[in-house]
This record gives sequence, structure tokens and C-alpha cells, in this order.
Amino acid sequence: MTKKLTNSDTNLVGMSRRRFLTGTAGLTILGGASHFPMPALAQGSPLKVGLMLPYSGTFAKLGKFVDDGFRLYVEQQGGKLGGREVSFVQVDDESKPEAATDNMNRLVGREKVDVVVGTVHSGVAMAMVKVARDTNTMLIIPNAGANEATGPMCAPHVFRTSFSNWQVCYPMGKVVADAGHKKVVTITWRYAAGTQMVDAFKEGFTKAGGTIAGELALPFPEVEFQALITQIATLKPDAVFAFFAGGGAVKFVKDYAAAGLNKSIPLYGAGFLTDGTIAAQGDAATGIKTTLHYADNIDNPANKAFQGAFKAKTGNDGDIYAVQGFDGAALLNVGLTAVKGDKAARETMVTAMRAAKLDSPRGPMSFSKANNPIQNIYLREVKNGRNELVSIAQANVEDPARGCKLTG
Ligand code: PHB
Repeated sequence: MTKKLTNSDTNLVGMSRRRFLTGTAGLTILGGASHFPMPALAQGSPLKVGLMLPYSGTFAKLGKFVDDGFRLYVEQQGGKLGGREVSFVQVDDESKPEAATDNMNRLVGREKVDVVVGTVHSGVAMAMVKVARDTNTMLIIPNAGANEATGPMCAPHVFRTSFSNWQVCYPMGKVVADAGHKKVVTITWRYAAGTQMVDAFKEGFTKAGGTIAGELALPFPEVEFQALITQIATLKPDAVFAFFAGGGAVKFVKDYAAAGLNKSIPLYGAGFLTDGTIAAQGDAATGIKTTLHYADNIDNPANKAFQGAFKAKTGNDGDIYAVQGFDGAALLNVGLTAVKGDKAARETMVTAMRAAKLDSPRGPMSFSKANNPIQNIYLREVKNGRNELVSIAQANVEDPARGCKLTG
């Protein structure tokens, strides 16, 4: 059964007046949950999962695929994790950092969820981590790469099933240098993820002997790329490194090709440039090389099974966002299985989750002391409308977790 509440629904008795008036973020309660916000019962109540994701805006499709991936895994376990029924409360965070603390507080304070799963945008995730730490809430981040979440802000009950911004882009520096490119221009949105991904690429590229010839950026989520593309044409670098994602990535890749630059200046990027966006980019994406912890044709049984099941459930091909959501539920399943579904046994759950080894569609995945995945970073190239695996750019990459005080 699915019950959807909107902001105009009078059941939202606890909603702040400001939130009600501005209409920020719709709330949806799904599954076996009550129509009315009620405190969770100590015994036998479902595990209440708060999904805080972008269901609108430039990252809307990304949020939907995380959500679909998470639910697919739960469905495969018969609607349970570790034998415990699961219910969902859903909030649209709109990728707006300014609304993030309020949204998170609604889930934790009023809805009393057992665990929050979210989100896509690094700035929103940072606010979520802060609330999770302040309220000792379990948080699983199924995308946002903010280095801090598994760096200075790390906590035993804050997990990530995606990547750190450093992790995905550092290996690309050597790849681009090894391809013989000496002068590179970077381009991204000016916000945490863009800045951190470009910094990581620069770290790897300059270490391998490369030079950064220009750093271009525009505010998130703007898509007026024309002036910056003209600047790239003037600077004439050997190659370009880009981070954009979702709707913005579709437009950037098309604009780059429309300006004819794809024929003269090779485009490299974080894999988000072409993952989940490739169908909409069409031919404009052909030849783009990216690094990511996933590729469409990873040849392992877990990936084949995942792709088949995801297609059967949604009609879509699974992408990295779907994989990260799927693995978020798999990680939670490890924790709840260790306590036989007793969600109150948090310490034991957390210990099991920190030691988890997942047979992910992306390949083997374990967790660092900061609860960030240790995983392969793949070099991929867009061919035949797919992100095809070229090689492992760097095996078993572990984020350095700079500033994290957790041990073992
Ligand atoms: C982020 O903000 O951390 C982010 C957003 C979208 C992506 C990847 C990272 O595809």
C-alpha cells in the first residue's frame, strides 16, 4: 500500500509554518506505515527508513534511481531486511542545502525514522551528517561524495555506499597524463562536489607531471555553458576534465559537441558526466572517457543479476545511482541480519556493517575505517551508447579519510 502526503495535506500537523507556506519538499509515507506520524513501537514495528533524496530539479532522475535501487533490494528480500519489515518515509530535498537541516529534522524528530538514506548533493549531505551526528541517527549516504562525510565529520554510524569526491577523480590524473596530455582545463559547478573532484584530479594530474591551464566554474545548478566553452576554445588545452551530473551533464556534453570541441579537444570527466545521462546525450557523448566505480558491462554475476532485475522492475537500465541505492539496502541487511532483525541492537549492527564485504554489481566492496567504500575505480569510454569498461584505472582505492579520527 502506498500513501502519499503532500504539503497541503492537513496530516502534516508537525510541519513548521514557514515550511508549510513556502511549500518546500513533499513528504510521502509508503509501505506498511501509518497514515499518521506515530512513534515507532519498540517491538515488532517495521524498520522505518527515511529516504531523503532529490525527486525534483537537475538531480531528480539520480534520486529516483537511488530510490528504485534501494527498493529493489528490499523487494528481493520479501519486503524485509534481516527479517524485519521495512516501511518508507520519503522527502524531496530538491538538492537545496538551505532546506536540508529542516528536512532531516522532520525525518529524525517528527517521523522518528530508524535510519536515513540520502542524498545525492554534497552540500545537502553535509547538513545531514551534522544532524545525524547531533542526534546519533544512522545515516547511509547513497551518492553524495563530500570528502568531509568520511573525513573530519566521520562517525561510526555514518556510512557511505557510493564514493568520496577524491576517490573517483584522483586516479583520472594519471590516466590523462599517461595519454600524453600536458595542459588541461577543468570545468565544473562551483560547489563542494565540483571543487573537491577538480582538486582530486589536479592532485593526480600534477603529480604525474601535468599542468592545469585554466579552472572554469559556474554556480550550481546553472547550465549557461556557452561563454565557458568559448574560453576553452581560446585556451586550446590538450584536454578538458569536467564534473557535471544529471540534467546539467546532458546539456554540457551536447553544448561541447555542438561547438565542435569534441572533434579537437578530448573530453574527460568523473563518470557522472555520462552515467544515467548517456541516453539523453546520444552521439554527443561518443568517445568521452571517464573514471567511476562502475561500468555498464562489468562482467560479474552480481552485475548481470542486478541489471536483469532492475530492468524487470523499472523498465530502465540500471546505472551507478541505482547500484549505490541497491548496495545501501544490502549494507543495512548485513547489519540487521547480524542482530536477527532487532533494530534496537544498534552497536552490534554498526560493528557488522563496518566489517561488511559486499558482492556489489560494481565488484568487490568493503569499508574503510571511516565507513567509505574501498573499491576499484574503472576507466570507461562511451561506445555504442554505453559506458564500456576500458581497464581498471586503480584497484581497491581507499579514500585517505583526511581528518577522520576513527580507528579500525
Ligand atoms: C555530489 O554533490 O556529491 C554529487 C552529485 C551528483 C553526482 C555526484 C556527486 O552525480
